[in-house]
Amino acid sequence: SIRVSPDATGPALSKQQYGVFFEDINYAADGGLYAELVRNRSFEFTATDAAGFTGLTAWTPTGAATVVNDDQRLNERNRNYLKLTGPAAVTNAGYDTGIAVRDGATYDFSVWARTDAAGGAPLTVTLRTSDGAALAAPLRLTAKSDTWTRYTGTLRATGTSDRARLTVDSRGAGTLRLDEISLFPRDTYKGRRNGLRKDLAEKIEALHPGFVRFPGGCLVNTGSMYPYDAANGYPRARSYQWKDTVGPVETRATNKNFWGYNQSYGLGYYEYFQFSEDIGAMPLPVLPALVTGCGQNRATNDPALLRQHIQDALDLIEFANGPVTSTWGRLRADMGHPKPFGLTTVAVGNEENLPEEYWANFLQFESAIKAKHPDITVVSNSGPDDQGGTFENLWAKNRSHGSDMVDEHYYNSPAWFLQNNARYDTYDRNGPKVFLGEYASLDAKFSNSLAEAAYMTGLERNADVVKMASYAPLLANIDNVQWKPDMIWFDNDESWGSTSYQVQKLFMNNVGDRVVPSTVSGGGVVRPRPITGAVGLSTWRTAATYDDVKVTRPDGTVLFSDDFNDGDADGWTAVQPRGTWTATGGGYAQTDTASEDTMVKAATITDTDYDYTLKATKQ
Ligand code: AHR
Repeated sequence: SIRVSPDATGPALSKQQYGVFFEDINYAADGGLYAELVRNRSFEFTATDAAGFTGLTAWTPTGAATVVNDDQRLNERNRNYLKLTGPAAVTNAGYDTGIAVRDGATYDFSVWARTDAAGGAPLTVTLRTSDGAALAAPLRLTAKSDTWTRYTGTLRATGTSDRARLTVDSRGAGTLRLDEISLFPRDTYKGRRNGLRKDLAEKIEALHPGFVRFPGGCLVNTGSMYPYDAANGYPRARSYQWKDTVGPVETRATNKNFWGYNQSYGLGYYEYFQFSEDIGAMPLPVLPALVTGCGQNRATNDPALLRQHIQDALDLIEFANGPVTSTWGRLRADMGHPKPFGLTTVAVGNEENLPEEYWANFLQFESAIKAKHPDITVVSNSGPDDQGGTFENLWAKNRSHGSDMVDEHYYNSPAWFLQNNARYDTYDRNGPKVFLGEYASLDAKFSNSLAEAAYMTGLERNADVVKMASYAPLLANIDNVQWKPDMIWFDNDESWGSTSYQVQKLFMNNVGDRVVPSTVSGGGVVRPRPITGAVGLSTWRTAATYDDVKVTRPDGTVLFSDDFNDGDADGWTAVQPRGTWTATGGGYAQTDTASEDTMVKAATITDTDYDYTLKATKQ
């Protein structure tokens, strides 16, 4: 039975409780939300970004056309360019099946060029299908001098195709240098230049999110912590450093992406702030804490580097909020937004695995930010996820320190979400507030979204503790998936929301004023039948080694895995279990001695998630 107390006062609800988390994963930025249609527009792809990448990735040259990196380059942060000698051409294949072109739509073309040909170099720009049929009348431009100059023009589509190709053809003599070849639909979200793909931006807008967490995730705190430095061989695979991503797009130094591809940074911090403002959401940037996460597990021991990143955090606040007379406020104004963006909240770090190192750095970030901007909320985090060993550790530190807010992440089975609806009922009402920055139910089934919806009622009931929550990840290109499930899916000309998208939309568009307290008795939570299975472990030990063991469910999700040689004191506690289960009889002391074999024995595992027989295999 459900008992509702309409006259009692529950926690106030806020529009900010539900938001979105944008990370450049699954080609969410380039080839996704960022509306640029030309792939590898500045010829900066390299084999260090991803296997098979070259300066000519996505381009097909005809004639003498090569990618060059020499002192004739466009600028120090955009080092490669395309050199054409005599009559030559290059054709770009765009993303996925090609460039998506719609009949009647206008496309803005631009290119940086210089030529040593006396009379200049004529350029013909065409849009054609992959079969060669014209999709627009050709655009004719002339590169006139040997100084880098930006040339622009428009193409009006006379047909529709999701397989278009863009060709830049030069019939001139001499040497022609080209860089930053770009094509944007005029019809971007809110018509902004260097803007966002309209269908994707509108799907996000339709959620009415209260905040936008960006730009990651693992994207933020992995890779080199050093800034771009052309003089010293600028590191590729840098952590996400916001200063790389602002200013004119042709000066944003391309980077290798943690998720296995690369980033032009055409969608950068200015664009994130602008988009947040456009959809009426609070911007919530995540800064690297100089402790890597996501399996990399490194912390800097360079105090100057830490000081610099802390200064970057202060500069970011100036970029967002400072007057136009300030250094970074001036840049914001030059980019088109003299008015402040009104940044109120920043997060430091994401799922750091080294709690002591993270905590030491967090305290320094927090005290520097609070000293200058006491009103800014600084979000800490709880470690890799709530199943990991560091979770409680960081929560304890956050609690005794009195952090403003703690970012928790978890991806779990639908059953976990159903069984943990009450998770926040017992959280300290006077402790740090919770930002549930990433969560999703993980089975590839419709029940995901039902479990998430049920769980969100628990978030809402605890709105006095859970101040913000965002499903993750937000976007996925169907041909480039590093992580699933995801909320919105797309290819180069279509997009659609998952059932989880519909759940998020339902909650975000129907935020109440206040929780009406209620209690449930006599059940109320659907619990699958608990299963107990005997899992024999000793059979997988060979004479020479103690093998890893993995217990999987029939749907492939890993319930349990452990490396017997990982040196932990207890083989059971090293695991990252998914779901709700207990094990008995398998615990043993890790001795790394010959006697260990006698200690590895059968275990009984009770999995309350599903009705099936457990199977264990060698990893
Ligand atoms: O959302 C995908 C990834 O999951 C994020 O990058 C990371 O923070 C988490 O582990």
